[in-house]
Amino acid sequence: MCGIVGYVGEKDAQNFLISGLKRLEYRGYDSAGIVTISENGKATLIRAKGKIVELEKKLSKNKNDDKIGIGHTRWATHGEPSENNAHPHKAGSIYLVHNGIIENYKELKAELVSSHDFKSNTDTEVLAALINSFYDNGKHPLVNAVVQALKLVKGTYGIAVVSELEPEEMVVARCGSPLVIGVGHDETLVASDASALVGHTKNAIYLNDGEVALITKNSIEVKTLNAEPVSAKVEEIETNLAAIQKGGYDHFLLKEIMEQPESLSETLRGRVDVENNTVHLGGPGLSQDELRSIKHLVIVGCGTAYHAGLLASYYIEKFTPEITVEVVIASEYRYRDAYIPDDSVALIVSQSGETADTLACLREIKKKGVKTIGIVNAIGSTIAREVDGGTYVHVGPEISVASTKAFTSQVIAMVMFGLTIAQAKSVKSSILAPYIKEIAALPEEIRKVLKDNSEIVKTIASKYVDYDHAIYLGRDTAYPSAMEGALKLKEISYVDANAYAFGELKHGPLALVDDRFFEIALLPEGPLFEKAVSNVQEVLARDGHMIVITDAQEFDLPVENVVKITTDIKIFTPLLMNLISQLFAYYTTVAKGFNVDQPRNLAKSVTVE
Ligand code: F6R
Repeated sequence: MCGIVGYVGEKDAQNFLISGLKRLEYRGYDSAGIVTISENGKATLIRAKGKIVELEKKLSKNKNDDKIGIGHTRWATHGEPSENNAHPHKAGSIYLVHNGIIENYKELKAELVSSHDFKSNTDTEVLAALINSFYDNGKHPLVNAVVQALKLVKGTYGIAVVSELEPEEMVVARCGSPLVIGVGHDETLVASDASALVGHTKNAIYLNDGEVALITKNSIEVKTLNAEPVSAKVEEIETNLAAIQKGGYDHFLLKEIMEQPESLSETLRGRVDVENNTVHLGGPGLSQDELRSIKHLVIVGCGTAYHAGLLASYYIEKFTPEITVEVVIASEYRYRDAYIPDDSVALIVSQSGETADTLACLREIKKKGVKTIGIVNAIGSTIAREVDGGTYVHVGPEISVASTKAFTSQVIAMVMFGLTIAQAKSVKSSILAPYIKEIAALPEEIRKVLKDNSEIVKTIASKYVDYDHAIYLGRDTAYPSAMEGALKLKEISYVDANAYAFGELKHGPLALVDDRFFEIALLPEGPLFEKAVSNVQEVLARDGHMIVITDAQEFDLPVENVVKITTDIKIFTPLLMNLISQLFAYYTTVAKGFNVDQPRNLAKSVTVE
């Protein structure tokens, strides 16, 4: 949510700032701005409401070759999207960009209102004014002013600050909102997400909470807010350029849906041994004794990550004896007085590794002395660093706001964790083998399903473009998959889509069925297939407009449309059906003409509560 970039070096700062902001635009896209400062201290501030292209239009009239600057793309929290509320914010001679929320901004503002003429409704301008009050027109070093100000702040921040009076240096700091410093040759780059640095440098320093850095083009000095020096570790940025480009696809979403065979293969790499029917996960770091003693799993996530947890829980319960699995929504769980029994382990699920509610749960759970295991994608993210152990899903950058490839891999990573518990508990190999075999086969089956069905789904989607309401239905493992399908449709095509367990239909939702709605039913073959077919008939009897996704080749009810999946997969069919839901949401959104990758009101990585 929101993106920060910064540059100090020998090249044209505006070029890096704009290209970096474009890379981070998926983090927030309601307004943007940059400021650069010339050698003699003249600032050029450009801000615009809307996407980066609006900022670029203004840039042509303000082009310069300044060598230092900061930029920001915003997802509004305090104050509506507008040019005035866009960052950078100015106070005296300093400029500030900020991700996060200053919780005590009202109290701070009350103190500052006599000395600063506030031009925006943002909490960020309050922080700028606070820093400026300590800076006192350059009488004190900028870095000291920033530190003094941050000591008074409650909330979260990743910030970058520059001053007209010190045009060769920048100060950055973080608390709860990521900040990465790229180490280059005669240049230092800053971003809230390493993807903005790709192609510029491979070396990066990830700031920790409570750290502040004074940066010039060839020096980086990191300290804690208490002025203790930090010997910062330079790490390699693993992302490559291809991973953050569309690669010939019209949208990142389609690219990310289509690359699931490869991204899941990365999740499985070195972890599945089909010959010996075993899985090996090194990351969790639990001994065989510890795994054997697990009696309860808590799975925590938001949105798609929560759905992934729910689906994984159905599987884990099926093959792991004497274990209970509780799947919780992070924003709720963090405030519940939940009792976690002894011998529990918590799985913390997050693609970005930065989601504020999930992170808060992680910290609460750790306080209770429970072991935490991350199921995370973003390497080096806050959650990845704070968990006791973890399994990276390794799907590469997910740039489209709607999560797709991460979901598939999160489910399988959690199932593999369940399998390691089952192995330690000596569950019979004959019970676990079918799961392991299918996991290994999934990437190819995913490839087949995407290839066989893409055009069919596109045609079907085109028939439902005028509907504003949809119901997704499923039983057992198909139910969490239906929930995920509904979320995908609603978030990018703005269709009011909700999912119900088939068995719940008669308890209320059946009343909705009329010509305003269409229904998507997920019908995997298996013990509950016939029951689900009866439920489909109940909807058809009320003239429902039904689309069925099934692997049952003989399915012949007179529904409006059927997607028949041909696959050898029997256990993980709901994951394959979810591919159809992903494609359906994609093609519906394209047909409606909406922005697929950057849906309204949303942003990737929800770093505020
Ligand atoms: C939906 C979506 C969100 C995220 C949720 C959690 O497509 O992307 O629901 O799944 O915000 O994000 P992470 O996994 O980054 O914690």
